[in-house]
Amino acid sequence: MTVAPQRPVAPSPFGTAHTRVEGRDKVTGAARYGGDIPFVGLAHGMFVLSTVARGRIVSLDTAPVLAMPGVLAVLHHGNAPRLTSDYVGMMGVRPDPTAVVFQHDRVPHAGWPVALVVAETPEQARAAADALAVTYEEEPHDVTLSADRPDAYAAEGHMPGVTEKGDLEAELAASAHVVDEEYTTPEEHHAMMEPHVATAWWDGGRLDLVDSDQGVTWVADELTRMFSLDPSAVRVRSEHVGGGFGSKGVRPPQVAAAMAAAEVGRPVRVTLTRRQMFSVTGYRSPTVQRVRLGAGPDGRLRALEHTSLSQTSTVFEFVEPSAGVARTMYDAPAHRTENSVVRLDVPSPTWMRAPGEAPGSFALECAFDELAERSGIDPIELRLRNDPKTGPVSGLPFATRNVAACFREGARRFGWDARDPRPGVRRDGRWLIGTGTAAASFFAGALPSTAAVTAEADGTFTVRISASDIGTGARTALTLIAADALHVPAKRVRVHIGDSDFGPAGIAGGSMGTRSWGWAVAAAAGELRERLVPGGELPPEGITVRSDTTQAIAALAAKERHSWGAQFAEVAVDVTTGEVRVRRMLGVFAAGRIVNPLTARNQLVGGMIWGISMALHEEAVRDAASGALYGGDLAGYHVATHADVPADIDAVWVDDHDPEDPVNIKGIGEVGIVGAAAAVANAVWHATGVRHRGLPIRPDRVLRAGGPHA
Ligand code: MOS
Repeated sequence: MTVAPQRPVAPSPFGTAHTRVEGRDKVTGAARYGGDIPFVGLAHGMFVLSTVARGRIVSLDTAPVLAMPGVLAVLHHGNAPRLTSDYVGMMGVRPDPTAVVFQHDRVPHAGWPVALVVAETPEQARAAADALAVTYEEEPHDVTLSADRPDAYAAEGHMPGVTEKGDLEAELAASAHVVDEEYTTPEEHHAMMEPHVATAWWDGGRLDLVDSDQGVTWVADELTRMFSLDPSAVRVRSEHVGGGFGSKGVRPPQVAAAMAAAEVGRPVRVTLTRRQMFSVTGYRSPTVQRVRLGAGPDGRLRALEHTSLSQTSTVFEFVEPSAGVARTMYDAPAHRTENSVVRLDVPSPTWMRAPGEAPGSFALECAFDELAERSGIDPIELRLRNDPKTGPVSGLPFATRNVAACFREGARRFGWDARDPRPGVRRDGRWLIGTGTAAASFFAGALPSTAAVTAEADGTFTVRISASDIGTGARTALTLIAADALHVPAKRVRVHIGDSDFGPAGIAGGSMGTRSWGWAVAAAAGELRERLVPGGELPPEGITVRSDTTQAIAALAAKERHSWGAQFAEVAVDVTTGEVRVRRMLGVFAAGRIVNPLTARNQLVGGMIWGISMALHEEAVRDAASGALYGGDLAGYHVATHADVPADIDAVWVDDHDPEDPVNIKGIGEVGIVGAAAAVANAVWHATGVRHRGLPIRPDRVLRAGGPHA
């Protein structure tokens, strides 16, 4: 049998639209998500969350609940096994102790898991969880973030806390044009379609877990450490994931399911309700940002300061590093950035799509628009004049820097040159019309990964990698990457992902997934192709080649690696109703080689739509009295719907190639949201002449602010 690649070789599938390889399974319901998989003897766990925002659990009245129909167990701090939480995990960070549930009687925030009721059916578990009486010793809480908090401190998180060079005050004083403004963004939630769910069971000392996560290696590693197990004794699977956006790491459901399965000796599934997700699975911190820009008469920056204050919990220091984007985007002789946090009695925030860059670009790119207004320089021209040659903080060369190319292509397609720079002068009936733009960037990293590619005896190829497709199209991209490296048609390649038994691989996070996994898959597939003899026979088990990119990634030259973009928005504003409509939107991106234009466009447009949502709709409001959210559900938390999104929305890309990069594939999960809210806000200014420096730009705020013809 001929098993070697066909000659002539199949053309690369890159750049041709390819529907998702699992698309049919998903639309027919054949694809099983974490909560769909049947188990014999499955029991169901439901969390009980704290109703106070700070204090101590005095007692849990479990006896009446244990007598309810179907109830098997109630787990809480008084009877749960002790876990390890003082380790540094594979992501280089300590675990968020929010996940290590039932270890003490402290209540650090409203909606903290205080118990898990396990029952025969989900309905019984829910009824019993509702019935559990918990007595608290309540303490005064503090959940209010404000710019003048004396207890705020500069903090690192996953980026440095403070960077500074030059004499900021002197350069500002010598500047012809100065912007000094405060920008705020509210608490925002991931709101992915599929709630967090985990099913665990024990077989002897082995833990098996099926969940919905952004990295099976990551989850398996954390559970191994928490439960003090041998790495070979833990298997985590996550085949289909209905969205993650940063929230689907190790969360209370996996840990509680593993505890409960040990307790009842059966498989246990823990599913969060939508309301529970608003306090158990992380969120984006609100931010208070200040941007100071000083420029010469020609618009060239002399001074740039960007500071960002966010909140974190009392149990985990997560930093929303919004000032980080200035470290990539713009240089100045005096340059200062600071990320600081304040600890409040609130749930722990976490990574959420473009952590730092999303809120940070709103502040910085709006400030740039204000500088354009004050200096009389076109907003695009102002950015082109301030496009740095090297990393403003690192001093390193850029592997690619294609901001200018994105703006030029975008200006041409969007019709920017015809724009009247004056605000408040375009009208369409009752609507004021404006256009705005903003720049985008996102770090292009890679995480060490392993992959295995098998040439099967029947002439097909099987790829196995612990990758995660959280809805991005990663499974399809990996199929195409393997086909490209094997020189075979994509239909001869099948890709299995989402199983920690496939060996360690990076996460679907930080826009690193497809770059990291694609690198490992291409390496294994390329080596396999070289091993295959044209016309040769294969053993029945096929031939398997494994790869590990650890060394290749370590050998990368030190450079600034990012994807880039330029966002354009046109809005219509009715200042008598306060309504803002986005009429059209265009994003132009430079993000390496685009593997699959169909899913790439999905990713980028999806990010831009989230930018519309961030600009106009999303806002979780915390009640100072209870410490909990008002309306913590999808009725109270407004996410852009289909009717909020213009039909005329598109993402395109320009060439972005680094001759020294071994893969030239970049993640595109996050760059699409960066700058999107700023482009909308800048367009609202252009329409009305009024700056909105606090998100979201709600109708009541537009009404109050008015406009030229209100
Ligand atoms: Mo993303 S916030 O790195 O999943």
